[in-house]
Amino acid sequence: MAKGKVDALLGIVFGDEGKGKVVDWFTPQYNIVARFAGGPNAGHTIIFDGKKFVLRSIPSGIFDKGKLNIIGNGCVIAPDLFMGEAKEIEQAGYTLTNRLLISRRAHLILPTHRLLDRAYEAAKGKKAVGTTGKGIGPTYSDKAARIGLRVGDITENFAEKYARLKARHEQILSELHFTDYDIAEEEKQWLEGVEYMKQFQLADTEMVINQALNEGKSVLAEGAQGSLLDIDHGTYPYVSSSSTTIGGVCTGLGIAPNKIGRVFGIFKAYSTRVGAGPFPVELFDETGDRLRDIGHEYGAVTGRNRRCGWIDLVALKYTIMINGVTDLVMMKSDVLDTFDTIKVCVAYRKGDIVTDTMPYDTEGWEAVYEDLPGWKAPIDGLRKKNDFPKAFSNYISYIERALQTPISIISVSPDREATIILKDFTKA
Ligand code: GDP
Ligand code: IMO
Ligand code: MG
Repeated sequence: MAKGKVDALLGIVFGDEGKGKVVDWFTPQYNIVARFAGGPNAGHTIIFDGKKFVLRSIPSGIFDKGKLNIIGNGCVIAPDLFMGEAKEIEQAGYTLTNRLLISRRAHLILPTHRLLDRAYEAAKGKKAVGTTGKGIGPTYSDKAARIGLRVGDITENFAEKYARLKARHEQILSELHFTDYDIAEEEKQWLEGVEYMKQFQLADTEMVINQALNEGKSVLAEGAQGSLLDIDHGTYPYVSSSSTTIGGVCTGLGIAPNKIGRVFGIFKAYSTRVGAGPFPVELFDETGDRLRDIGHEYGAVTGRNRRCGWIDLVALKYTIMINGVTDLVMMKSDVLDTFDTIKVCVAYRKGDIVTDTMPYDTEGWEAVYEDLPGWKAPIDGLRKKNDFPKAFSNYISYIERALQTPISIISVSPDREATIILKDFTKA
């Protein structure tokens, strides 16, 4: 939260690390909260005063009424879903129009992008990525192909531009023999969403952010997805289609690298993954089921079972390096309360090869573990480091030593209040 800087809070595993909770808790300390990547594939859960919200495109700083929130140029936005999300928040008593800015450069997800998402997944068969079906891949593909529609397009000749791109999509769908659909109703909602968006400030948000930084204001960049779903650094091709890592903060908001302040890397005390793709620490046994049950590991967007396993230090070391993480944030430690032994993945093995660095192809590797004793006591009511059971403090120190990075924040329950600061990260 240094003046004139952008701090980033990045999921550094496979997403769903608890970004929404921490961004919401952090917001009072910043002037602006901004999303820089992804779209409604994200589901960020925020719980306070007995209420629960799941945000998809709107930044998690929205519940602090005095703060400006920005959907940056690196994001993709579905007008119909955005409208639903915004209306729900407004109905809960939070006005949005004067404090939510949408970048004119952000790309629009069309209803036909969602169909293409389904069609491409179906065509991949067994190799399907297990996407959220929100049209993310096709929208970023059109952006890269330089044929996409941007938020700024909705104010000029939009019907014509929309019809042109839609026709192109329909042509591809027909080539893929994906013709059994009727989007009339969905399209109606979507066009209504486009009109609804016009009441918001569709802005050159890179100018707004840089001006704020020049005035000494502070910005929190809210990550979406996780580093292992990054289009470049994730477990390709089982990834999302945006830059979820630190470089994405610069391109997705239009800020220079020297404006980046602290980089918070958020992870869970164990691992989860939704969708297909390599996951060396995955547990297929009763222990995996226990982690899922206790951690309520079901997708916030699709309701799918999250795959569960122990913490993966090989992956974390890699993503800490890629992002230049300055502070770690460990979530959901309470989920491990009842385990006798907690395993920690320290290396991967394939045949005779053992490595503790992230391999190019993470498929076919199995995890090598070390065992640590569990603390066997409830920690969700604790708010002070001095009250932690000894085995829990040891777990924290073990991870810090292995990753050579301090754990600055610990979360021990879903509630906003259950967030404990361990280190004074406001000092350099
Ligand atoms: P995000 O996508 O990174 O914002 O994370 P999600 O909201 O998809 O998933 C995180 C889930 O964990 C949500 O259901 C949160 O309410 C919950 N959660 C967050 N922190 C904690 C914690 O410390 N303990 C427990 N038990 N649950 C938590
Ligand atoms: P948050 O922000 C967890 C996963 C999908 C799939 C892959 C590609 O809540 O952490 P996509 O629809 O993006 O093309 O899907 O990425 N995925 C996520 N997994 N949390 C997310 O977001 C995710 N967003 C995408 O399950 O495997
Ligand atoms: Mg999520």
